[in-house]
Amino acid sequence: MNDRRMVIGKTVVHALCLLPALALVRMYFNGALVAQADPVSYITHFTGNWALWILLADLAITPLRRLSQRAGRQGLNVLVRFRRMVGLYAFFYATLHLLTYVLLFSGYNVPATIAGLEAGRVLEPWRQLQLIWPAILDDLQKRKFIQVGLASWAILFLLAVTSPRRALQAIGGKNWQRLHRLIYLAGALGCVHYWWLVKTGVRTPWKVTAVLTVLLLIRMAFWISKGAKSAPRRQATQRQGAY
Ligand code: HEM
Repeated sequence: MNDRRMVIGKTVVHALCLLPALALVRMYFNGALVAQADPVSYITHFTGNWALWILLADLAITPLRRLSQRAGRQGLNVLVRFRRMVGLYAFFYATLHLLTYVLLFSGYNVPATIAGLEAGRVLEPWRQLQLIWPAILDDLQKRKFIQVGLASWAILFLLAVTSPRRALQAIGGKNWQRLHRLIYLAGALGCVHYWWLVKTGVRTPWKVTAVLTVLLLIRMAFWISKGAKSAPRRQATQRQGAY
């Protein structure tokens, strides 16, 4: 792919990934957000859903590329160049989701923070956070879905900070690849988080779970076939080594 096409491709991916955030901003300005029965809950669900779907889109890139290679087409190879970017967008939405939880869901006093900052009290944001901290810790202890959500976010955070090329060089390609396989765990924890937060009998998380299961099955099939292909090669090398 030449440079110009790459720039166009990146612009399209940025635009697609930013669309949900822009839609939310638009809802805020045209009043559609406050018209919701519970705007805070709406933002929490909106950002949570997009974090998970974008994460799944990121996980779909490798299987799509491999399946297209098997079909004799190389066209989808280029998708790999956008994998890092899409993963970072999943982290972006997961962080918006976490901030919504801390700043809006948990009763963080935003007006008092702004007033404090305007009055020159630079530590006001921290002071306000300290006030709601016990409630957040209590929630974390009591609600398992919050623990699982936090674990998923922590993995996405780890992958985001190790995504630059410098980090790859520092830890080595193999280790980096192993570490970045944790993205599957982040996706699985995201699904568990969703199942554990819905009421008993509600089946809405089935779609994300089905997509993740299919992606994992495809990935496993590739691992198995790769192992089967490399086994005779390994044996041949060992036999050659024996003589
Ligand atoms: C620090 C971590 C997290 C916290 C504190 C958190 C908290 C929450 C809360 C409070 C809700 C709404 C629960 C309710 O309505 O009763 C929610 C919903 C949700 N969260 Fe999270 N979450 C976290 C991380 C994540 C991550 C990393 C993902 C995705 C990978 C995610 C995906 C979702 C989804 C899909 C929903 C439900 C959306 C819906 O019902 O339509 N969350 N989360």
